[in-house]
Order: sequence, then C-alpha cells, then structure tokens
Amino acid sequence: LKEIFPGVFKIGEQLATRNLAPGKSVYGEKRVTEGGVEYRFWDPWRSKLGAAIMRGLKTMPIKSGNTVLYLGAAQGTTPSHVADIVGKNGIVICIDIAPKTFEKLLEVCETRENLLPVLADANAPEGYAEYVEKKVDVVYQDLAQREQAKILVKNVRSYLKKGGYAVFMIKARSIDVTAEPSSVFAKEIVELKKAGLEVVETKPLEPYEKDHVAVVARLRD
Ligand SMILES: C[S@@+](CC[C@H](N)C(=O)[O-])C[C@H]1O[C@@H](n2cnc3c(N)ncnc32)[C@H](O)[C@@H]1O
Repeated sequence: LKEIFPGVFKIGEQLATRNLAPGKSVYGEKRVTEGGVEYRFWDPWRSKLGAAIMRGLKTMPIKSGNTVLYLGAAQGTTPSHVADIVGKNGIVICIDIAPKTFEKLLEVCETRENLLPVLADANAPEGYAEYVEKKVDVVYQDLAQREQAKILVKNVRSYLKKGGYAVFMIKARSIDVTAEPSSVFAKEIVELKKAGLEVVETKPLEPYEKDHVAVVARLRD
C-alpha cells in the first residue's frame, strides 16, 4: 500500500481510494481491507481521472476537505472516488442533466453524505446557485459535449475561487467530429486561457480513453 497523493493509493499496480462507505461498492469494484481500513479499487478504464493518474498525472488538485463542483456526474463512478478523496469534511456538488442516470446517482449519494446531487444543466450555472454556498476549490468537468470550454468558463467565472483549479476532460470527438483531435484540444485550451485559467498540466488518456485529454488548470489570483 502506497499513498501516491493524499487520499489516493496504489495497492500493487492498482489504484484505490479509502472507502467512505465501508461495505459498499459503487460500480462493482473490488474492495480490500488493509490495517483495519477498507479501500475500493479505482478502475482507470471506467474513470478518466483514474486514467489520468495511471498515466502519471503530476498535479492532483483535489484534496481532503475541498469543495468540488462536479459537472457531468453521470452515475457517480468518478464522483464516488472524488468523495473518498475529499473525505467527510469536503463536499462534491454533483451536477447532471439526465434524469435516468440521476436515479443511479441518487443511490450512490444516499450512502455518501458528502455527495450532493443536483439535476441541472451545466450550461446554465445560475440554476444551481442555491447549492453552491461559497466559491469552490475545484471545478471538475466531464460532459462529453460540444461547447465544453465555454461551459467550463461560465462555471469558473461563477463559482471557482481565485487560485482554485479546473479539471477538464476534453473529448475531441464530441466537439468536432471532423477536426483532428490535436487542433481541437488547442482551440479549447485557448478558450481557457482567455478566462484567466493557466494550464498546469495536460495528459492524454490513451489507452484508457481514445482521443481524450485531461487538462488541469489554475485560476489566477
Ligand atoms: C461521460 S459522462 C460522465 C462520467 C462521469 N464523469 C464519471 O467519470 O463517472 C457525461 C455526463 O454528462 C452529462 N451531461 C451532458 N451535458 C450536460 C449538461 N449540459 N449539464 C449537465 N450534465 C450534462 C450527461 O448526462 C452524462 O451523464
């Protein structure tokens, strides 16, 4: 057992987080107890953040006690690991627009007090203002959508504190199916820079995800 970032572990070659809801898995992942603590394995084939870490991401902006605004929470796979990392003193505000996946997300949130599910459109951030009590430490976005950078920028302007981080999973094919992925990434990154975000690190997610890049950016003070 090796802690590679605060709250993120390697058990052998596998990634894991400390299970905030011992006895429960979220997406069929295996659990293991070491030294009286239960860990859940984190499958990089199912989670882009897991993939970025397996690919050697150096900057891990999500920390214990953080408030994270998570855009595109889907069924809660990655959000559940983010919840394990921020721990009991942190909170993960989970936004998703799809009512069907939201049902599964609600189940996951029932077992984890620090996950707050909100059915809303990430493209209209004012719609969830009442759930974001103060500016957040991290905005995490994985929407697989067109206009991804624009949506991220709107949320950063409304809710990210200065010096806070944006974690952005860019899926090139969702933005422009005809363009070369690399030119799509470049254009998206220009958008982020215009909004005062400094790109700290970019990490391609192959082989776990094709044509995806993880971007970690910091909002200037
Ligand atoms: C690739 S999935 C996210 C997977 C999740 N991040 C994980 O790793 O477990 C993308 C999600 O974004 C949601 N989504 C797409 N457009 C959205 C929007 N405008 N507002 C909120 N959610 C949106 C979809 O409903 C879908 O659940």
